[in-house]
Amino acid sequence: MFKMLWEVLAKESPLSFERYMELCLYHVEYGYYAKANLPGKRGDYITSPCIHKVFGATLGRQIIEMYHLLEKPENFVIVEAGAAQGFLALDILEYLEKKKYEFNYFIIEPFSKIKSIQENTLYNFKDKIKWFNSLEEIPKFRGVFISNELFDSFPVRLIEKNDGRIKEIWLEIKENKILEIRKDIKDENILKRLGGYYFLWEEGYRTEVCMRIDKIYQVLSEKMEEGFIITIDYGYPRSDYYSANRKKGTLICYYQHKVIEDPYFRPGEVDITSHLDFTLLKELGDKYNFLNIGFTQQGAFLVSLGIHEVLYEISKPNLKDINALKFLVFPEGFGSSHWVLIQGRIKEKELKKELTGFNLSNRIYLL
Ligand SMILES: C[S@@+](CC[C@H](N)C(=O)[O-])C[C@H]1O[C@@H](n2cnc3c(N)ncnc32)[C@H](O)[C@@H]1O
Repeated sequence: MFKMLWEVLAKESPLSFERYMELCLYHVEYGYYAKANLPGKRGDYITSPCIHKVFGATLGRQIIEMYHLLEKPENFVIVEAGAAQGFLALDILEYLEKKKYEFNYFIIEPFSKIKSIQENTLYNFKDKIKWFNSLEEIPKFRGVFISNELFDSFPVRLIEKNDGRIKEIWLEIKENKILEIRKDIKDENILKRLGGYYFLWEEGYRTEVCMRIDKIYQVLSEKMEEGFIITIDYGYPRSDYYSANRKKGTLICYYQHKVIEDPYFRPGEVDITSHLDFTLLKELGDKYNFLNIGFTQQGAFLVSLGIHEVLYEISKPNLKDINALKFLVFPEGFGSSHWVLIQGRIKEKELKKELTGFNLSNRIYLL
């Protein structure tokens, strides 16, 4: 199987790094995600929904507030993309049920192997959930689009400053060997996305640009009549992302809970990921008519929503539960590496007060 992906890669050679990453992660047969490699202790990396149910339950609190802000639309729906095992969906739905709310839930899942795992996890809510292969397939809706660590898995263009110019990395692949080549960039939009910071970079500076997120916003702008986009991921505002100090960019791989810097290590067997440029999401919000409502670190967001109270609402916590909560909230865990951005299609005057998740801090000005 491993050998077969090499054959696919060699057949397309020369190919851009972006296409290489796409094949490694999403090739229908040999891609890392297509083979249903999922987060968790037995996987290669861990995510917040794998850590504790209180993460999804606390997000459930924020979603309930959103539902009321939208004046309780009859067909309110939660849409999730990149749902992995379905843990976040399960924890949100269980919390909503506890609070006597009944919302429908759409999951966007392109891979059938992953869909079967989700069906299993979400068996008790099977009447509430509908699966779609892509966002394009869902009907127009009022509600919430939520993702946790989705955009960091989108293929990126790999960029390098070389001979004083900004180049894109392409790959020549022959007999299981990968040779990087540098090409001039013809697409002005890629350079624009770097925000002019490249004038300050030193020779050899490397980074990434993601051009694939635009499509999601374009489709969401067609589908969401009213509602909110909740994005949780690791990333930075653009000024930090492309700062002169970050010479190696953010591209990284995970293999059996180890960080691997070489993106050519065992193609199709490792998770390849990069951080998110949150300023890009803000710009896409502006472009597609979503209000940029709030941006803060995951820890501040969850504490603002009362994660500690939620923990007692859903359980009789023991030390293990408390430690999990700490991991979600403290900087040593995911509290400051992960950020929450909320955008909305809602009239500004209807947002009479800050969303509860931003009570402690709203740093949208950073974007
Ligand atoms: C890092 S994992 C998500 C982790 C999960 N949300 C969690 O919190 O445990 C990224 C997932 O997004 C999926 N994905 C990537 N692009 C997608 C898209 N356009 N629509 C739906 N899922 C997508 C991948 O197949 C993969 O399963």
